[in-house]
Amino acid sequence: MKRICLNENIYYVGVNDRRKNLFENNWPLPKGVSYNSYLIKDKKNALIDTIEFGSNDNYLNHIAGLLEGAPLDYLIVNHMEPDHSSMIGSVLHHFPEVKIVGNVQTHKILKLYFNIPDESIITVKDSELLDLGEHKLSFHLIPWVHWPETMVTYEQTTATLFSCDAFGGFGTLDGSIFDDQNDFEQDYEYEMLRYYSNIVGKYSNMVQKAFAKLQGVEIKMIAPSHGLIWRGNPGKVLQLYSKWCNWENEDGVVIAYASMYGNTEQMADYIGSLLGARGIKVKTHDVSKSHVSDMLADIWKYKGLVLGTCAYNANMHPMMEHLCNEIRLVAPKNKILSIFGSSTWNGAGVKSLASYIKEMGMEITGTPLEIMGAASFEKLQDSAESFVDEFVKSL
Ligand code: FEO
Repeated sequence: MKRICLNENIYYVGVNDRRKNLFENNWPLPKGVSYNSYLIKDKKNALIDTIEFGSNDNYLNHIAGLLEGAPLDYLIVNHMEPDHSSMIGSVLHHFPEVKIVGNVQTHKILKLYFNIPDESIITVKDSELLDLGEHKLSFHLIPWVHWPETMVTYEQTTATLFSCDAFGGFGTLDGSIFDDQNDFEQDYEYEMLRYYSNIVGKYSNMVQKAFAKLQGVEIKMIAPSHGLIWRGNPGKVLQLYSKWCNWENEDGVVIAYASMYGNTEQMADYIGSLLGARGIKVKTHDVSKSHVSDMLADIWKYKGLVLGTCAYNANMHPMMEHLCNEIRLVAPKNKILSIFGSSTWNGAGVKSLASYIKEMGMEITGTPLEIMGAASFEKLQDSAESFVDEFVKSL
């Protein structure tokens, strides 16, 4: 592997994973994912996080090559989710002298996965320092970003924040690993939003606490566990995360609908065209076609949400129920939400969608739009116009 330096004596030893189809066996990876890991060479040598087991056969040899016969003194474990930790056993096997550094919570989880002797473990407290020589590390607990044991590691001499999942994103690092040598907006921003809304967004309150904790800390570089390393403009990713964790929405409306024979789809398109005619940006998803990962990303981003369903077995369509369940889990806020749907005899779809939304603790704006039978132009003409008028007033 080529030697890639963040700074003198801080090496990138992460890898790309283009083989895995689903992250956490749930979220699609059309552009792959990187597992970022870092080696600091100093009087004492430290590895910060590992990679997912099986994602690269050369990882340990690469580290050994960079160490040039010197020992690996510390393995800093910022996070125990296996995409970063499942190589811990292999690292210990290869470098038996290494001490594993984590907090109390880390070590509880560590013991559940690995048979590691207590003498190989160093437990650090919040803000505790570890002196490597030139480089000084401090550890800062940011629980639930995105597991209870998660912490970040700050290297004081270079003002580098090893931020783990925070500020990470999907997408492999092709060529340069740095933000200032990539087109972030074109190649990474959406994948970062998708990662945030799918993985981290549920814990936005805890992300806010992490932000508060890092207030006043000089940060010249952000080195997360997934995605680009921010050395050119770390303020950009801080700004994006601040917006997302505070549920600040952009103007626009997501329409997501479930339709069996096209009537609810007709309604979705009609509503979309009325919104578009008012100059409002619209993103429309057929819930049976779009992956919930993409729908959640759009829902996280935009202020308006219009959900539509046909009736199905005296309920809403099962794919709409799946989307609603995911929305409930990640809990986006500050949305203007309305619903619509079609049916043939008793309107159970819209009724069950309305009651599910109430259970989710979200509010429905205006009166739901319902059509029996064919969603013809004649039926939609006036009813959809007033539905959209009412919705737009709240946007
Ligand atoms: Fe990248 Fe929570 O693991």
